[in-house]
Formats: sequence, structure tokens, C-alpha cells
Amino acid sequence: MKKVLVIGIGAGNPDYITIQAVKALNTVDVFFFLDKGEEKRDLADLRRTICERFIEDKSYRIVEVPGPVRDQAGDYKSGVHAWHREKAQIFTTLIANDLPEGGVGAFLVWGDPSLYDSTLRVIDQMLAQGAATFEYEIIPGITAVQALAAEHKIALNPIGEPVHITTGRRLMEGLPDKVDTAVVMLDNGAGLRALADENVEIYWGAYLGTPDQILMSGKLSECVDAIEEARAEERAKKGWIMDTYLLRRAPKT
Ligand SMILES: C[S@@+](CC[C@H](N)C(=O)[O-])C[C@H]1O[C@@H](n2cnc3c(N)ncnc32)[C@H](O)[C@@H]1O
Repeated sequence: MKKVLVIGIGAGNPDYITIQAVKALNTVDVFFFLDKGEEKRDLADLRRTICERFIEDKSYRIVEVPGPVRDQAGDYKSGVHAWHREKAQIFTTLIANDLPEGGVGAFLVWGDPSLYDSTLRVIDQMLAQGAATFEYEIIPGITAVQALAAEHKIALNPIGEPVHITTGRRLMEGLPDKVDTAVVMLDNGAGLRALADENVEIYWGAYLGTPDQILMSGKLSECVDAIEEARAEERAKKGWIMDTYLLRRAPKT
């Protein structure tokens, strides 16, 4: 039986890798890298660094293929479903052609596979449709959310209270009623701008865990311009940006 490992590699710092992940990396015969263009030469480089640094026997192979690009026009959910179908086809071909019977293949997932990542959904789809037969295991990783909290030295939740995790796209509809603390990912800047006048505090981090990390915090209305400037500057310099932030409503007086 073929085996596939989905290994969370942490969100930026090679030191985020867990001992469980190191043990798993050392069993892999073939790594599948999907090249994502844009940001993303830097991210592929991190994956290679992790392989070089943590794997003792260098006889593993890396198979790199272009990743599909999500169609941004039209309905968001149908675009995502079509993108997953394309990915499932690519994964199926990789596993059929590049993973020998009895071999171990791996996808290295940024952060943790459970958070805003399609790999697990794509694998479920492939198995449900009988597109491939393999067993699989998931190795968790440190998410950008945990990296953000650690770098700002904050607890995510106020005592006994919930934390809402959402996307910039959803934030454009406003912070939901009854949500006092929200962590926001995948924001192109529009979500943050939409909330600029709210009475909230922000803890913002870009390129968390990397040498380019930037942190800012304070009242959103006072920080929003500086954050937007930093986003634009860094995006122009590096060609991509990844940022995550926590918003907390100011206590009612
Ligand atoms: C597709 S999601 C992947 C999340 C990932 N699976 C995780 O566990 O963190 C990409 C989003 O994660 C956040 N992100 C990932 N790595 C980050 C980093 N090093 N610094 C800041 N934000 C990051 C950003 O919000 C980015 O838009």
C-alpha cells in the first residue's frame, strides 16, 4: 500500500518544525511540491531548507509541479471547488506516477493542514471518488495564529471567552455581533480597511517567524495607515505579503 503524509511545517520559521514532523520527514521517499508562483519561490525554498536540514539520508526525491491557479472571477465557492478538483487530478497523477507501491510520499503544508489549507479536503475527495488508493497520516504544525500570539506575547482569548477565526473577505461584512476577539487571515487589505473606524485594538504580524517579520499593535484607528503603508512597501519589495492579525473590541466603559 502507498502511504501519504501531510506534514505541517509551521508558518515561517524552520525551528517551528516538531519532533513528530522530523521523524515523519525521515521516512519519506518522495516529496510533492506544488509551485504556487507569486509569493512563492521563497516558500518553496523554505520547504527545501527543511528537507536539507532535518533529513539525514539524502536519497529522497522532490517532484515539483506547477500548482493550479484559482479562478478569481465569478462565484467564490464554485471557484474554490473547481480549484480543488484540479488539485485532486494533479495529486492523483503524482501518486500514480511518482510514488512506487509501498513507498511514502509527502505534502509539506505551510503552518498546519487544518487551517485554511485545501490539502485534506483534496485528499478526502480523491479517496471518496476512488481516484487513488493509499493510506494517509497528518502531522500537525505551528499555525500563523500561534506564531502571532507568541511574537506579540499575548493570549488569544480573554478569560473564558471564545476566539473567532475568519478571513479578510468575511471581515468586509463587519465584525460579527457578539464577537469580541477575532483572528484574521487571508486579507488583501480590504478587510482591515473596512473596520478602520471600529473601536478595536489590533495585533498585526507580517512574515511571522521569518527574518523579515514585522509587528505592529495599538488602536486600529491609529495604526491602520502605518499597517497599510508597510503592506504596500513590503509587497512592492518582495512581490508578496502574508499577514495575520488579532482584533479585540475595546472593553465597554
Ligand atoms: C492559505 S492560509 C494558510 C494558513 C496556514 N495553514 C497556517 O496554519 O497558518 C495563508 C494565510 O495564513 C497567514 N499566514 C501564514 N503564514 C504567515 C506568516 N508567516 N506570517 C503572517 N501570516 C501568515 C496569512 O493570513 C496568509 O494569508
